[in-house]
Amino acid sequence: MTERALELAALGVGQVSPGPLVGCVVVSAEGDVVGEGTYFYEGVTHAEVIALSEAGASAQNGTAYISLEPHSHHGKTPPCTEALIRAGIRRVVVPIEDPNPLVSGKGFELLCEEGIEVVTGIRKEEAECLNEKFIHWHRNGRPFVHLKIASSLDGKCATRTGDSKWITGKESREIGQTLRHDHDAILVGKRTIEKDDPSLTYRGGNTRRRPLQRIILDTDLSISPESKVVKTADETPTVIFCSSSVESERRQLFADFGVDVLEIDGGPRNLPAVMEALYSRDIQGVLVEGGPTVTGEFLDQGIADKLSIFVAPLVIGGTESLASVGGHGAGSLSEAWRLERVSVRQNGDDLEVTGYPVATRVKE
Ligand SMILES: NC(=O)c1ccc[n+]([C@@H]2O[C@H](COP(=O)([O-])OP(=O)(O)OC[C@H]3O[C@@H](n4cnc5c(N)ncnc54)[C@H](OP(=O)(O)O)[C@@H]3O)[C@@H](O)[C@H]2O)c1
Repeated sequence: MTERALELAALGVGQVSPGPLVGCVVVSAEGDVVGEGTYFYEGVTHAEVIALSEAGASAQNGTAYISLEPHSHHGKTPPCTEALIRAGIRRVVVPIEDPNPLVSGKGFELLCEEGIEVVTGIRKEEAECLNEKFIHWHRNGRPFVHLKIASSLDGKCATRTGDSKWITGKESREIGQTLRHDHDAILVGKRTIEKDDPSLTYRGGNTRRRPLQRIILDTDLSISPESKVVKTADETPTVIFCSSSVESERRQLFADFGVDVLEIDGGPRNLPAVMEALYSRDIQGVLVEGGPTVTGEFLDQGIADKLSIFVAPLVIGGTESLASVGGHGAGSLSEAWRLERVSVRQNGDDLEVTGYPVATRVKE
C-alpha cells in the first residue's frame, strides 16, 4: 500500500512546489481500501484529509499509508495528525520523516503519544527519490540542481560550425519536456541564447501550478533584446543574472520587456550567490540545460545533484566541435565525477543515463 501512496503522491508533480509530494491510502480494519488522496497545492486540502473524508466511518481502527510524515503544526491548514487521530486511525505507515528541521519527527511523536502505531522505513529510498527536490531544499537551503545534456556518442553537443539541432531524437526531446514539467526553473548560459535563440518553455500538456521560470546567466547583459526569451518575458517569467557593473540604462531596457534583472556580486560565475537568490524566490528545482560552459562550471563548483545525459547514436568528430561538458574538468580520474544510483534506459534510438554525481572533489 505504501507503493500506492507513492503513486498517488506522484500525481502532484509540477503542482506542489515549494510543498512536498504527498499521497495517502486509508485501509479499513477489514483490509479494504476505503479512501485515497493526493496533495495538490492549489487546493491546499491535504492528501490525508481527502483520503479520510472519502473513508468516512470506515477509517475507524484502520491504517493510513502516507508517503511523508504527516504534519502536526497549524500552517495554512489544521494539522493532519489531528485529522488522523479524530478519524480513529490505529496504525500509520510512512516511509520517511518530514525533512523540514522545524517539524521533522514531531508528527510521529504526536501520533505515538496518542497510542497510534507508527511504522517507518518501508520503501524509504523510493520515497526519498520522489521528494528529492523538497528534501534537498530543506536540508541544504538551496535548490536541487539537475544537469541535462544532449550528446553525440563521441561526447559532442554541436558541430564545428555550431550546428546542434537536433542531436537527440523525438523520444528524448519529449522526456526533456517531462523534465521541464518536474522543475520550477530552467537555466542556460548566454551563448546558448545567442546561438540557438531558444524559447525555453514547457510545451507538454500537463498542469503546472507555477509557470516554468527561465534563468539566463549573462555577466554583461549582452544578449540581444531581440532574443525570444526577452521578447516574451512579459508572458513567461524570465530572470537574467548579471554583474553589478552593468549600466542602469541597459538593465532598464531589459526590465521594460518584463525581464527580472538581478545583479550578483562577483557576477553570475558566483553560482552559490545565484543559488541563494533562487532559493529566496522559492525555486526548489532547477534544470540546467547548458551549454557546456555552464554545465562545466556547475560541476567545477560542485553544484550538481543529478545528471542526465541523453546520448544519440551519432558521431560528430572533429577537434573543433563542441564537447558536451566544458569548464576546468578533472585533473586526474580520481577527481572525475562518478555517478551513483545510475539508471539507463533507451528512448527510441537514444540512450539516457541518469545518476547522482558523487561529490569527491568538493570534499577535498
Ligand atoms: N546539447 C546540449 O545539451 C546543449 C544544450 C545547450 C546548448 N547547447 C549548445 O551549446 C552551445 C553554447 O554553449 P557554450 O558552452 O558556448 O555557452 P553557454 O554555456 O550557453 O554560455 C556560456 C556563457 O555564459 C556566461 N556565464 C555567466 N555565468 C556563468 C557561469 N556561472 N558559468 C558559466 N558561464 C556563465 C559566460 O559569458 P559571460 O562571461 O559573458 O557572462 C559564458 O561564456 C551552443 O552551440 C548550443 O547549441 C547544447
